[in-house]
Amino acid sequence: MSSLKRIVSAAAIAGGLVAGAPAALAAGGGGHGPELKHQSWTFDGVFGRYDEEQLRRGWEVYENICKSCHPLDYMHYRNLEGIGYTTDEVKEIAARFEVQDGPDEWGDMFMRPATPLDPFAEPYENDAIAMLANGGVVPPNLSVINRARDHGADYVYSLLMGYEDDVPEWAMEEDPNFSLAPGKSFNSYFPGYAISMPQQLFEGIMEYTDGTPATAEQMATDVSAFLQWASEPELEERKSLGRYVMLFLLVLTGVLYAYKREVWKGAH
Ligand code: HEC
Repeated sequence: MSSLKRIVSAAAIAGGLVAGAPAALAAGGGGHGPELKHQSWTFDGVFGRYDEEQLRRGWEVYENICKSCHPLDYMHYRNLEGIGYTTDEVKEIAARFEVQDGPDEWGDMFMRPATPLDPFAEPYENDAIAMLANGGVVPPNLSVINRARDHGADYVYSLLMGYEDDVPEWAMEEDPNFSLAPGKSFNSYFPGYAISMPQQLFEGIMEYTDGTPATAEQMATDVSAFLQWASEPELEERKSLGRYVMLFLLVLTGVLYAYKREVWKGAH
């Protein structure tokens, strides 16, 4: 095989791997419960980008509903500038939260309004209190959940929309002895289906500042996108770097091909 052919076929294999990877991942989703409710996200694909308006709506959902139970560790209020809030808006948002500071000159800890430099406030003072409030389970940190679960955004969306009032027939067929312990809710997408988080999203439970109607689907979509950003704020840079690399490889292939033709021209 000529070296050019080798390069071209290596590039083709690499291209095939890149194109085939999502399909291979999608095929691997365990045989239990219904398929995830796949959504079309603006951040999918090579040209994917975040929609900042959606991310700000998602933040509103987190602030209004999720933050009373779930921490967003590793994030600071100033990070919200990354979804289009101005410095002043971030100051104002931070000031709605209280954080502990101190000790003061008397050796006491005290509470004060948060500033943009503070990490997000924790919903509970400690895990024991969190467990007491949530049926023995600590609500997990949500800042990395989208990366920790396959198809993170689709999973969070499906989970939030996956509550059933009664145990569905398919679950009884899977396990005729299935029963929900007190304090648990049925969720089609949670491993084992019994979840300690009650259903959260009901139409009109909050209002969006941009006037978007707060349907359950809308809130689930927006907060899932927001959590995607929280777990991968650098996604756009990563994708644009990837595009440059592909372009570079393409140009390089062209140059090598032209060079090969030039070198072999005299040989025939
Ligand atoms: C009343 C407290 C409470 C609120 C409010 C709440 N959750 Fe939860 N959430 C929990 C608890 C408790 C768990 C752990 C469930 C379990 O392990 O059974 C949990 C688990 C989760 C999980 C993890 C599932 C997994 O795979 O481990 C996600 C994702 C989640 N919540 C998202 C949200 C979002 C988004 C919101 C806001 C719309 C929200 N939660 C609001 C209590 C809450």
